[in-house]
Amino acid sequence: MADTSCAFYHETERLILRDWREEDWAPFWEGTNTPAVTEWIGGVADEETKTRAQDRLVRFARDWGHTFWCVERRSDGAVLGFCGLKRCTDENGPFGMMEAGWRLREDAWGKGYAKEGAIAALDLSFDRFGADETIAMTFQGNTASWGLMRRLGMERRPELDFKDEVWPQYNEPVIVYAIGREKWKETRP
Ligand SMILES: CC(C)(COP(=O)(O)OP(=O)(O)OC[C@H]1O[C@@H](n2cnc3c(N)ncnc32)[C@H](O)[C@@H]1OP(=O)(O)O)[C@@H](O)C(=O)NCCC(=O)NCCS
Repeated sequence: MADTSCAFYHETERLILRDWREEDWAPFWEGTNTPAVTEWIGGVADEETKTRAQDRLVRFARDWGHTFWCVERRSDGAVLGFCGLKRCTDENGPFGMMEAGWRLREDAWGKGYAKEGAIAALDLSFDRFGADETIAMTFQGNTASWGLMRRLGMERRPELDFKDEVWPQYNEPVIVYAIGREKWKETRP
């Protein structure tokens, strides 16, 4: 029987997007704090960075009702990573805009899970959380991430690109994709 007790709980065909529980953090970090997964998101995190990230994800859920939710696989209850919605928190970027994001453990790549979760997140951004437009952000080198943005029908918005202050080591701007409510309704994959 699915545990639907948390405040946010959303099922897709193969996944559950839901609020974080304390017991999620260990499998989340075990699966997604690897060199490959973190190549374009700051590198393998130390304990302090992990705690700050957890606090942020929980705070976003509390403040906005949405966050980069825990992604659980329905078939076996495995924590695959996160996927969901936050508000852009980069003050020199498109601050405050609805932002979709994703991060899955390596053995969950190439199965369409990220796309499935992202479609749900975009649906929710427009239907439940009132966005008119939803963005996603990455670096040019992160082809898997912007490839997904393109497969979702999102379009490059170079005028929203900005210089990253969080991970200056990449030495390249954050690139921004976006999709509006009307286009999503017409082209949703
Ligand atoms: C970005 C990330 C989530 C993308 O994951 P992904 O698994 O490549 O993305 P998708 O879910 O769209 O899967 C696409 C692949 O699954 C395949 N696939 C298999 N079964 C599928 C199905 N049922 N439905 C859709 N696609 C399927 C597709 O053919 C495609 O394969 P290809 O890449 O060889 O063409 C993943 O690379 C990741 O976690 N990266 C590290 C963290 C990160 O950088 N996050 C982004 C920060 S901006």
